[in-house]
Amino acid sequence: MEKQEKQEKQTIALAGVGDFGRYIYEVLDADDRYNVVILSRQSKPLYPPSAVHITPSYSEESVYSILQSTRATTLISTIQCPDSAFVTIHQNLLNACLRSTHCKRFIPSEYGGDIERFPHLPGGYARSRLPFRDILAQSHGVEWTLLNLGWFMDYFLPQAMSYIHHVPGEFPVQWESWRYTVRGTGEEPQNTALWVDMIARVYEDLVHCAHQVNSLNANHWDSEITQQLSESETDSSF
Ligand SMILES: NC(=O)c1ccc[n+]([C@@H]2O[C@H](COP(=O)([O-])OP(=O)(O)OC[C@H]3O[C@@H](n4cnc5c(N)ncnc54)[C@H](OP(=O)(O)O)[C@@H]3O)[C@@H](O)[C@H]2O)c1
Repeated sequence: MEKQEKQEKQTIALAGVGDFGRYIYEVLDADDRYNVVILSRQSKPLYPPSAVHITPSYSEESVYSILQSTRATTLISTIQCPDSAFVTIHQNLLNACLRSTHCKRFIPSEYGGDIERFPHLPGGYARSRLPFRDILAQSHGVEWTLLNLGWFMDYFLPQAMSYIHHVPGEFPVQWESWRYTVRGTGEEPQNTALWVDMIARVYEDLVHCAHQVNSLNANHWDSEITQQLSESETDSSF
């Protein structure tokens, strides 16, 4: 009986589990409905060795092989890599899903910005996420979702309270020095979201969309938060 229940679990594959991926892993792993497997270029001491599947360069062939052997139904990427590699790696992930028997849900690594109103922002996304969105839009056979949230609220926390590493000078608020950077005129809203809300969206995707194949109507651009940025910046104290 126990074995039968285990077989009914859905396997979720996470590619590139770093800062944000760690949150997703922990939440899904604690849920009895899911088995979670990790695709990584290297061993990951933080996670059970049995959960980690090595794919040296996220090549299509190796990802496909892992998806097949684990019978994963959904692939979630949280890969953060140089812009030049992003499209190739994500194309590999997409192709592997398309070829796979079961993996027909795909969430590429987005999680930033407002892609409906400002698809070219942040700047690096224009060179990485934007071209891959075009590829996804023309693909058939895999349901996908783009999840975007503005900034993670983690940046308001001391580093020790968050898995998301602070990148000095990137987030407008430097809580350690009580300084913020006004982007634009200062009137534009800059929004942040809790990682738990982001994962709630991942869940929504898993629960409502898994196992449906090739429904273009199910593709949605989930842009929750407005982020307006312009070229000019001003440093200010709180
Ligand atoms: N909106 C926000 O405030 C915000 C903040 C942070 C991140 N994000 C977004 O969230 C996503 C995940 O970011 P993160 O901070 O969690 O990423 P991260 O921890 O820096 O990296 C995630 C994983 O990417 C893989 N990776 C790194 N370099 C690579 C390379 N050259 N080639 C292939 N894989 C590589 C690594 O996995 P392996 O070593 O296991 O292969 C790494 O653990 C990104 O899309 C990022 O833009 C958004």
